[in-house]
Amino acid sequence: MNNSLSLTLDAFYTETEVMFSDTFIKDQFYLNEQLQDEKTTKKISAFLDIARKKANTTKKAKVISQNFVPTAAGLASSASGLAALAGACNKALYLDLDDRSLSRLARRGSGSACRSIFSGFVEWEKGYDDESSYAHPIPSDHFEEKLAMVFLLLNDQKKEVSSREGMRRTVETSSFYQGWIDSVETDLCQLKQAIQSKNFQLLGETMEQNCLKMHGTTLAAHPPFTYWSPDSLKAMQAVHQLRSSGIPCYFTMDAGPNVKVLVQKEHLATIQETFSNLFSSQQVISSFSGPGIMIIE
Ligand code: ADP
Ligand code: CO
Repeated sequence: MNNSLSLTLDAFYTETEVMFSDTFIKDQFYLNEQLQDEKTTKKISAFLDIARKKANTTKKAKVISQNFVPTAAGLASSASGLAALAGACNKALYLDLDDRSLSRLARRGSGSACRSIFSGFVEWEKGYDDESSYAHPIPSDHFEEKLAMVFLLLNDQKKEVSSREGMRRTVETSSFYQGWIDSVETDLCQLKQAIQSKNFQLLGETMEQNCLKMHGTTLAAHPPFTYWSPDSLKAMQAVHQLRSSGIPCYFTMDAGPNVKVLVQKEHLATIQETFSNLFSSQQVISSFSGPGIMIIE
């Protein structure tokens, strides 16, 4: 329904190994050293089927994955995890996909994963079919190297409403949804203009407003829901206060209660201190622009 823009970060990532063999009788999925149940494995199998079809094979697979990011807590484990799985399948099945085709494959696993193939600022072109819907990096002349994203880990438990279910419900029932769609194009134009002109204030303001609009749509869904917690609001308020005291910083949130604060590196220490006092230092994790997909052998 809409293009979207992300910044790939270094702090949270996934390592995934995949083996295909005639000797396996069914797909097996180990996440963080635990063999996953049938329901979770089914999702993985559906993705593996797409990769298998490309390679013209029916071999079952064993997938071993380690998330260096809390799973299903609104910290984009699906983007990280499915980008990693797509990259691993590309290698294991000798698909030899170029970056664009790999982005398209990752998209089939989780939409947001199509962006995580690349480093830095990335835009997902919604396109109009499988061929034309993929992500690509946005030229930024190293702007992202001046930035940091501070994660406030307010709750790392699995969320009640998954991204997929939340989005489905919002698209189908929220009367605010069209308003969000109508404003995305203008916001994306501004974001890209901000990146091009290295305008931190424009980047931050647009990101924060866009985030608030998106979260607004869930309140009008039926049944209504929100990904926010009381601590999320506390964090948002603190960002406003920091700005009033002359520290430029802006928040954004995924589908989950955790808040991310975008800041220029020169103000990172102040942000870390403020939020360590408000919450605890273990809940404050700083990240920087990170690499895209990497093959480790
Ligand atoms: P999040 O906010 O963490 O992205 P989502 O609801 O979007 O939450 O997605 C969570 C789902 O992503 C998990 O239930 C699982 O299906 C999938 N996922 C997460 N990590 C991995 C991984 N390492 N490998 C494969 N799939 C994963
Ligand atoms: Co997700």
